[in-house]
Amino acid sequence: MTGAIPSAPTTETRIELVPRERAAEALTFLNTYWAKDHIYYRSPELFRWSFGDSPAWHRPEHSFVLARAGNRVVGCIGGIPFILWHRGVEEAAIWPTNWLVLPETRGSGIGRRLIHWFETDLGCRLVGLGINRLVEPLYKAWGWTIVPNMMRYVMPGPGALPQLKELIALAHPDLPGNARTGLLALLGAKGGSADPNLGRAQPLDESWNAKGWPGFADEIVGAKRDLAYLEWRYRKHPLFAYTVHVVEEAGRFGLLVFRTETITVLTALGREPFGRALRVVEFLPVSETNAVALGALVAHELRAGDITFADYYCTHGRFSSWLDATPFVRVDCSPHGEAFPSRFQPLNGGKSAIPSAVRPPLVAPQYPPSPGERWYWTRSDSDLDRPN
Ligand SMILES: CC(C)(COP(=O)(O)OP(=O)(O)OC[C@H]1O[C@@H](n2cnc3c(N)ncnc32)[C@H](O)[C@@H]1OP(=O)(O)O)[C@@H](O)C(=O)NCCC(=O)NCCS
Repeated sequence: MTGAIPSAPTTETRIELVPRERAAEALTFLNTYWAKDHIYYRSPELFRWSFGDSPAWHRPEHSFVLARAGNRVVGCIGGIPFILWHRGVEEAAIWPTNWLVLPETRGSGIGRRLIHWFETDLGCRLVGLGINRLVEPLYKAWGWTIVPNMMRYVMPGPGALPQLKELIALAHPDLPGNARTGLLALLGAKGGSADPNLGRAQPLDESWNAKGWPGFADEIVGAKRDLAYLEWRYRKHPLFAYTVHVVEEAGRFGLLVFRTETITVLTALGREPFGRALRVVEFLPVSETNAVALGALVAHELRAGDITFADYYCTHGRFSSWLDATPFVRVDCSPHGEAFPSRFQPLNGGKSAIPSAVRPPLVAPQYPPSPGERWYWTRSDSDLDRPN
């Protein structure tokens, strides 16, 4: 089957955006059928921020649709809106999330209509990050391109290797000894986080739109990271406190954004704190020298905050090659790297790979990337960096 949009077999099912004043109906559906105590149910402000506040969204409703058969809600899908910057052209796009059809109504075409709705009815491009592996065959059958993973980089804190050893053992009690040793050798390969001369970090302000984003526009395909986007994504996040640093080099700005997260471990006494992780969500250097300066800021943060490690997921070819000049080590490409945990609320040893699906005519990023790979997406795209 090609990527052509199929005809709708279930004409009696209506698909409609959720009016803002009726968000509770969507939240109750998610809480009942997606997951009990779902984060959007617990935090309606996070739901509003995700599906209502993006500067790329200009409609009165939420960017979240429900499928109704008569009076009954039988399915849903959210679309986090963003402006797709594609070699000088802006296009409306969404990251689909929370795509669900009730089990008793599956197989009748409702899921298909839901996932294509933003394209057919609003003309949006679709990029699905963090897809469920179980539905990978479905995306493939519809002609989407599967991207099996993103690159992942880790920077150990100073002297943190013994703590990382313990962390890995807690996440994977059954990991064979040679795999554990291999992973630790990989993490320690660069000698940990040195703290060289720091770049001078500046706060983000409106000069980003003159000295920041325009310099990247030619070599990035992905969410248009202008000031409006960064303000919404990081400054106005209702639950996470991100730190945003800008480092100037020869009249251009590089960008570093991160947040800290307490690693919790499930014990007989409940959740106990184990250490802290620095989750880097933007690492956008203007040169290799600038990447070293941004990396030094990460290393400084690890040292100053006594933080166990930093990590960063990305897809861009050239920016990631510059990460090699920093204390970050790439872990996704090693046979042992997948064992480095990525979920800490509480710590678990689940897979750290993030598979994605891109709907044609968009050409998906290659994994592993070529040096010229221009897609830039990170773990803050879509809903990947949010509380559980
Ligand atoms: C994914 C989901 C929304 C699809 O809904 P649906 O209403 O069954 O989808 P459709 O009826 O439109 O299915 C269309 C086709 O996909 C197939 N399909 C559905 N679910 C599938 C799956 N998990 N794996 C492979 N194929 C699947 C159907 O058999 C059908 O095939 P056909 O076109 O040859 O007849 C539904 O299975 C679901 O709610 N799954 C649980 C939540 C989930 O995993 N969401 C995805 C997150 S990335």
